[in-house]
Amino acid sequence: MGEPPHRRRAHTRSRDIERYAGLFAERTKVMRSSAMRDLMAVTARPEVISLAGGLPDTSTFPPQTFAAQMTRIAQESAAEALQYGPTEGFEETVDCIIEVMAAEGMLPDPDDVIVTTGGQQAIDLVCKTLVDPGDVVICEAPTYPGAVPVFCSYQADVVQIECDADGMRVDELEEALARLDREGRRPKFVYSVPSFQNPAGVSLSLERRLRLVELARAREMLIVEDSPYGLLRFGGDPLPPLYQLDGGDYVIYVGTFSKILSPGIRLGWAVAPPPVMEKVVLGKQAADLCTSTLTQYFVREYFAEGRWREYVDSLAEIYRGRRDTMLAALREHFPPQATWTEPEGGLFIWATLPDYIDTSDLLARALREDVAFVPGQAAYVDGRGRSSMRLNFSGVGDAEIREGIRRIGKVIGSQVDLYGAITGEHQRPKVSPHMSAGEAEDMGGIDSRPNPDPSRSDSPGPDSVEEGRGSVLPFRRSKEAEG
Ligand SMILES: Cc1ncc(COP(=O)(O)O)c(C=O)c1O
Repeated sequence: MGEPPHRRRAHTRSRDIERYAGLFAERTKVMRSSAMRDLMAVTARPEVISLAGGLPDTSTFPPQTFAAQMTRIAQESAAEALQYGPTEGFEETVDCIIEVMAAEGMLPDPDDVIVTTGGQQAIDLVCKTLVDPGDVVICEAPTYPGAVPVFCSYQADVVQIECDADGMRVDELEEALARLDREGRRPKFVYSVPSFQNPAGVSLSLERRLRLVELARAREMLIVEDSPYGLLRFGGDPLPPLYQLDGGDYVIYVGTFSKILSPGIRLGWAVAPPPVMEKVVLGKQAADLCTSTLTQYFVREYFAEGRWREYVDSLAEIYRGRRDTMLAALREHFPPQATWTEPEGGLFIWATLPDYIDTSDLLARALREDVAFVPGQAAYVDGRGRSSMRLNFSGVGDAEIREGIRRIGKVIGSQVDLYGAITGEHQRPKVSPHMSAGEAEDMGGIDSRPNPDPSRSDSPGPDSVEEGRGSVLPFRRSKEAEG
């Protein structure tokens, strides 16, 4: 007898939904799709320029190195590399992780480390360990779009704290914590991407890092520091990771090889205090038994060569050039009212458009022009971020970045013109990079000040604004954010 014919279900019909709906777990009602994953189907089309993904440039990894290492594994360790491994990961992989963390000044105990299937699984396992339905989880606004579906699937009550040019507003966090105290609610953890944040590209200042760690210690509150980009710095001075400042008592650290080597190998890690780690390991046993043995062998071989840091530095150099290309293209093609961040590392720029432009609608138009970005709403749990977008500059070359931004600029331009025609409103004057943040905010709700001074009253009217191509003020608060 032959194999049964392969069945592919083209579409889910309403009768199918009815048949299964009664069986779904409560949590499925609040599960959210990942915006980036949804976009991947479209952006896989070769004609589409994708500024949507968070893709590192894997074409820079030498194929000969890959071939040589995989060949060595096949010749010398085939049976072991094809076998299951320990749930915590191999000691040799943990040694590589310790090396990566040491490069940023951290010295974790190897026993506190678990190797995971990407940083994404580490976030999931931490939530699985700590979050019951209705528990409060605090994160940045905007936050990593891939964390949003995780928080939602564990039915967390997510509180988002505004960011500015210096990362999360720790003063606002303190206010939120005081409010939660009054309500008798203790947050399970504060999730932060402190270095070259995804999606905003900003980094938490040293002062705020120190204050955040101080708060965690004083309140016995956990912080989840998710840091895929710390080593991808191409400007400014290195900042100490929260884990280093805290020493690992209250900071759970999440890392990954995805952005310094390859996301395809799906290798990440978590470092947590022993009582937390014990539960994380149980969660991982239930999830997938162990992380890929084969790719752990690959990392071991690769690190044995001793050139991993050189490769990371070469990536940072490439990304610096692409960031500059994107910034130049933004100045040329985005309207004067737009603002964007100027990251000193990582993979992303966060741009904010006039309030009347909804970037989810804009994306539909942009896709007709064969270009994609991530709409800002994906980085919020509550519908904010409608006028913002995340732009990736690592995954495509300079020519595509220029063309991609030109196409997005074109669709934005037609929206701006349409708005002008309907409302009769003329374009507002440009926000100059030389303007003080307070002046800029008075014009359009831009907030780039680490510590806004509400007492300011010396802002000039729009007429006094200097002309100057391009706005580099990092954050504009949406209407909803102010409300
Ligand atoms: C902040 C952050 N955390 C976690 C991840 C997940 O990375 P991975 O699962 O590939 O390690 C990403 C990927 O883009 C990220 O930007």
